[in-house]
Amino acid sequence: MERVSALIQGDMLAVEARFRKNLASDVPLIGQVGEYLLSSGGKRIRPMLLLLAAKLCDYTGDYHIELAGVIEFIHSATLLHDDVVDGAELRRGNRSANAVWGNEASVLVGDFLFAKSFSVMVGCKSLKILQLLSDTTTQMAEGEVQQLLNTADLEVNEKRYLEVIRDKTAILIAAACQVGAVLAEASPEREDALREFGFEIGIAFQLMDDALDYVADQKEFGKTRGHDLEEGKMTLPLIRTYALVDEAERAEIKRVIELDDLSDRDLERVCELIEAHNGIEYTRMRAVERIQLAKSHLEIFPQSEVRDALFDLADYVVARSK
Ligand code: IPE
Ligand code: IPE
Ligand code: MG
Ligand code: MG
Ligand code: MG
Repeated sequence: MERVSALIQGDMLAVEARFRKNLASDVPLIGQVGEYLLSSGGKRIRPMLLLLAAKLCDYTGDYHIELAGVIEFIHSATLLHDDVVDGAELRRGNRSANAVWGNEASVLVGDFLFAKSFSVMVGCKSLKILQLLSDTTTQMAEGEVQQLLNTADLEVNEKRYLEVIRDKTAILIAAACQVGAVLAEASPEREDALREFGFEIGIAFQLMDDALDYVADQKEFGKTRGHDLEEGKMTLPLIRTYALVDEAERAEIKRVIELDDLSDRDLERVCELIEAHNGIEYTRMRAVERIQLAKSHLEIFPQSEVRDALFDLADYVVARSK
């Protein structure tokens, strides 16, 4: 990641400064909750991708800073809402905002971040980008609702799972990369390539998040291990395992996925089954394939330090432990 920060460190500092400005409100709770989340050490993958994509296309204006901030604001809003929906208690190693201030405050401050994102976007004077990010946030909401409908549904297969992660995660990362190209008025071919690059990274990113939910070191990951299982989420490690186990084991998984309170013993039992059927390895492999595909989309760009940095970011997605 050093090559990444060497290229965009200055821009990222400017992005962070914009966060503060855009959190300004006469209602103090907005600043408190927003500041709590924004200063808690997110990886900033999405704004970094936007900045690098703009650089790859030789953008020379100023709107990349504003829009990188917008992308992280949208991400932050979805996290505030997501933690309420998922009943999460930990985020980035700290108590989640809903655990500190309650669900109501999290939902409402999430709304503020969403609304603010759109008002900043309007100021960037690109109808194309406004359209792109409006479509993106609409589709993200659809993904989260579809995932809700899929709760504890053991019929969810890999295809249906991929549709959810496409919508809830991949398209925002795709849009981050595409915005960089749109700003620079890159050719349609380059714009598509960057969007596809971001899309594949986004799928890989959620695949890894779902694998890490089972096997990460909780301290490092910063989120509660096994929480997806507790919430009845059908993610790929479990979908893959469920397809391979015998009847008796299927019944065990069925019982556990429907539990409201997951015991350590139940979690360990499901982890054992996942381990026995290489559910994590399978998920990781799928992510690695996506990363290779992502990189292949950037082959239309000549080799450069910016392209290398984008490759580094892509590799980081499958190497990460948080
Ligand atoms: C978390 O995203 C939500 C998912 C899409 C898995 P990140 O892992 O990018 O979260 P932060 O911002 O780095 O904490
Ligand atoms: C995140 O999915 C999707 C969003 C768009 C917020 P998760 O529910 O798996 O994200 P984490 O694990 O809580 O970060
Ligand atoms: Mg969640
Ligand atoms: Mg969620
Ligand atoms: Mg997760």
